[in-house]
Amino acid sequence: MDHRRRRVVVGTATAAAAATLGLPQSGARAEHKEEADTGVDIHIELHAVQEHLALRPGAPTRVWRYRGKVLRGDASTLEASDATYLGPIIRVRRGQRVRIDLINELPEPTIVHWHGLHVPDTMDGHPRHAIAPGQRYVYQFTVLNRAGSYWFHPHPHGRTGAQVYFGLAGLFLVSDDEEAALGLPSGRYDIPLVVQDRSFDGDNQFVYLGSSLLDSSPTDNLDQPPMMGGAMMGGGMMGRGMMRDGMGSMMGRMMGVLGDDILVNGRPSASLSVERRPYRLRVLNGSNTRTYKLAWHDGSPLIVIGTDGGLLAAPVRRDYVMLAPAERLDLWVDFARWAAGSQLSLQSLAFNGGMNMGGMMMGRAALPDGAPFRVLALRVEDGSQGAQEIAPPARLSEVPSPNPSVAVNFDRPKIFELTMGMMAWGINGQSFEMLDARPYETVRLGTHELWEFRNDATSGMIGMAMPHSMHVHGVQFRVIDRSVSSRFAGYRNTVDAGFVDDGWKDTVLVMPGERVRILVHFADYPGLFLYHCHMLEHEDGGMMRNYRVMV
Ligand code: C2O
Ligand code: CU
Ligand code: CU
Repeated sequence: MDHRRRRVVVGTATAAAAATLGLPQSGARAEHKEEADTGVDIHIELHAVQEHLALRPGAPTRVWRYRGKVLRGDASTLEASDATYLGPIIRVRRGQRVRIDLINELPEPTIVHWHGLHVPDTMDGHPRHAIAPGQRYVYQFTVLNRAGSYWFHPHPHGRTGAQVYFGLAGLFLVSDDEEAALGLPSGRYDIPLVVQDRSFDGDNQFVYLGSSLLDSSPTDNLDQPPMMGGAMMGGGMMGRGMMRDGMGSMMGRMMGVLGDDILVNGRPSASLSVERRPYRLRVLNGSNTRTYKLAWHDGSPLIVIGTDGGLLAAPVRRDYVMLAPAERLDLWVDFARWAAGSQLSLQSLAFNGGMNMGGMMMGRAALPDGAPFRVLALRVEDGSQGAQEIAPPARLSEVPSPNPSVAVNFDRPKIFELTMGMMAWGINGQSFEMLDARPYETVRLGTHELWEFRNDATSGMIGMAMPHSMHVHGVQFRVIDRSVSSRFAGYRNTVDAGFVDDGWKDTVLVMPGERVRILVHFADYPGLFLYHCHMLEHEDGGMMRNYRVMV
């Protein structure tokens, strides 16, 4: 393992005050004393660093990643692996009071967002809170979410796509008593599967919009822009990047970046050896733009026990399930279904993904969105003959059915049209502005609202029919209904048997021409939060806005 430069800031009285407000601590750069915060159950330090990792035969790959350390609490709170750039996996229990110090050792600003967690706005990792290289940001919150598979990733303005692509992301797994009582498969039978796509250059380096990561150290260029060829601070598709990177990456910047290698838990050509017994597979789509249509190689049904916001009321069976960027699925699989020695594969099936051809414009054989491929190879181990396939518990959790009539705007849902204007993505024609929230983007603390995402404006434009993966920060919502005009039915027909809309969600796939209504409760925390498309180049390119929760 490499030895990273320790360059963090001194904790001072002022810094401590700033910490409780979630403000970045700045000050003299000096050795920081690692002192556990005794006012919390768990205190973690999370360093965003550059490292090298052997991912393929030949040269190691330069990555950006998080390195964690537990300063207070159970050491098993963090699970790290040197085989991947992902993680560490953070495991907490509902109700725990957590402090996490982010230390930025990258050559550019960053901030961490806790995707799916219900936390105050200063703890949510909004781009307005991004910290410069060498700075520390202190998060402190109580875990109020129910048990589920949440995750964390960077969120600096215009650079989320690049930073995630170069490796920054990890799972944040919450457990609670309700889940524990079910006795679901645990330990080595509870396996996270983070699915991503990447493109490598001939030197094994990740290529993002025509650029790869250069060797850099934060000390070299504290006041310099990021050390990447075609990269820009702050989005925009018509900027320098287009001139510099050419047509291929202009398309990628606009439509979204697709890689031709599928990685699971950060490994290309991933495989897994399993026993003939039940497993819990927690699948996260950590890809920048790619959507997956997951299915077993032999058509066996997928048994879904949970989604973004935790367990469903009861398991559902699907021939395939859709997984858009940032969505999660909890699967129950009893491999006793297959004979010992069987080779299985989890696949992504073909669907009509619209116009995103990925890197095709660059003349490489990239996989377009909707192309079929294998995600994961599995082998059923020998032994344990004769076991019976076991079904998951029939009742999983208390999930009330949503009641849209509680919405203050029950008869007039707020419309959020997904738009493209002047070559910039937007929502209702507006691109992202750091602190701006319009009147229709303002809600009252404690109320419920119906929101409707409409993907019919751009879908009607030639060449612009694309799915979007709509995410709302700070909340878990319910999907009320979906509709599609017959003109666009040809897209949705290829995916709609794979929606799992029954449980708590924070991200929802909206197919070309589709309208999706959600019910959102704005509880507990006033302030400024984001909502956006989680296809990260769309997000960085303007399809992101703020909403304000007013007291
Ligand atoms: Cu994964 Cu703004 O979110
Ligand atoms: Cu989020
Ligand atoms: Cu989008």
